[in-house]
Amino acid sequence: MASELIFRGHESQPITGDGAYSPKPPKPWLTATRPIHYLLREQRLIFILVGIAIATIFFTLRSPSSNTIQPIPIPDSYIPNELTQYQARSTQHFATGFGINSVGKIPLGLKRKGLRIVVTGGAGFVGSHLVDRLIARGDSVIVVDNFFTGRKENVMHHFGNPNFELIRHDVVEPLLLEVDQIYHLACPASPVHYKHNPVKTIKTNVVGTLNMLGLAKRVGARFLLTSTSEVYGDPLQHPQVETYWGNVNPIGVRSCYDEGKRTAETLTMDYHRGAGVEVRIARIFNTYGPRMCIDDGRVVSNFVAQALRKEPLTVYGDGKQTRSFQFVSDLVEGLMRLMEGEHVGPFNLGNPGEFTMLELAQVVQETIDPNAKIEFRPNTEDDPHKRKPDISKAKDQLGWEPKVALRKGLPMMVSDFRQRIFGDRKENASTQ
Ligand SMILES: NC(=O)c1ccc[n+]([C@@H]2O[C@H](COP(=O)([O-])OP(=O)(O)OC[C@H]3O[C@@H](n4cnc5c(N)ncnc54)[C@H](O)[C@@H]3O)[C@@H](O)[C@H]2O)c1
Repeated sequence: MASELIFRGHESQPITGDGAYSPKPPKPWLTATRPIHYLLREQRLIFILVGIAIATIFFTLRSPSSNTIQPIPIPDSYIPNELTQYQARSTQHFATGFGINSVGKIPLGLKRKGLRIVVTGGAGFVGSHLVDRLIARGDSVIVVDNFFTGRKENVMHHFGNPNFELIRHDVVEPLLLEVDQIYHLACPASPVHYKHNPVKTIKTNVVGTLNMLGLAKRVGARFLLTSTSEVYGDPLQHPQVETYWGNVNPIGVRSCYDEGKRTAETLTMDYHRGAGVEVRIARIFNTYGPRMCIDDGRVVSNFVAQALRKEPLTVYGDGKQTRSFQFVSDLVEGLMRLMEGEHVGPFNLGNPGEFTMLELAQVVQETIDPNAKIEFRPNTEDDPHKRKPDISKAKDQLGWEPKVALRKGLPMMVSDFRQRIFGDRKENASTQ
């Protein structure tokens, strides 16, 4: 029996006079119409058309058009609803400013990639909270820190995360990294620390800031400087507006910090005007929260640690000097809005709620120990009498204002301090 695979076409093919087989020449029109016949048979064409229609609808709905911008997901619980418009703006900024393509449209099928961000001073108090938020948003973060006041413990929950890197480096030395954004926080912030080595403090502020601005210029990154309310010195205007130039002692014991930050602001603006670097300036007012250095001499951390240790709360001067206290999550929110927004600043970021030192001591007593005593000491040199931010500009241009009241934020800080101060003791107690 002949195999089915044997070619039998020649049975119907003409045999030439000499008996040899010669194949029939193929009809060209038949080759051309064969695919059409194939499509028309068994409703294949209908299936193909339906498939094309489904694909078109799917990609039209998924693709980010220039009118409908997909918000960057920021999965943190304390993000207020108003952020959506800034998230949208930030996506637009990302798409246009960071090289996806010039018309702000992410090509089909390409998911938004996170930014690569450097946070100098990222192992410190504010920096580590900022890092948490950036990582949660899906960005890759490189922390650059010399651990002068920062601690690995503040960021070690990110160890092992491929989106997180930690470099021990002093910003006074140059550094080359490929990044999209630079949050420049590196600088000791409490008087105890910045007065410890004033020359190093001013070097960090001037040379460190120069290095980071140089990096921003080289790689085309956006640069944010965390300046301070100390640039207003002992202010003659109250509350302080960003247009106020300040009343600073240039030769005092705090000048290494105050004047250092003022010079850092000058450098930032000069790189902006002269070299076209995209910059942002935040003037931060007193901030408190978990992970603050316990014995850094700042008034909130001082009072909380003293009350927990059953020591008297030390009030310098008559205790009538005022300060405003901002919870760290509010500050981080403001910094991120500033970085993603359109405005250079400077912007005051602080809580306008004003407390005297004695009022603050009272809140600490209510929160920790109603019997805590108060001890008065002579005031320190150049301690400003009043400090209260005018945040109208940040409200208008960043849509930002603080949300966490002192009586709500303080207990969160207290439980962190309690754990850090008594953590070992609890462990010892439990093993006895
Ligand atoms: N916390 C506040 O109330 C407050 C107020 C105004 C301004 N600021 C500014 O915010 C920033 C962060 O403040 P913070 O409260 O988190 O202070 P912090 O001391 O906790 O953090 C500063 C971080 O910078 C690091 N650092 C210091 N010098 C460095 C150097 N030369 N090279 C590399 N890293 C260095 C420290 O190790 C630390 O991790 C500072 O620039 C500070 O001036 C803070």
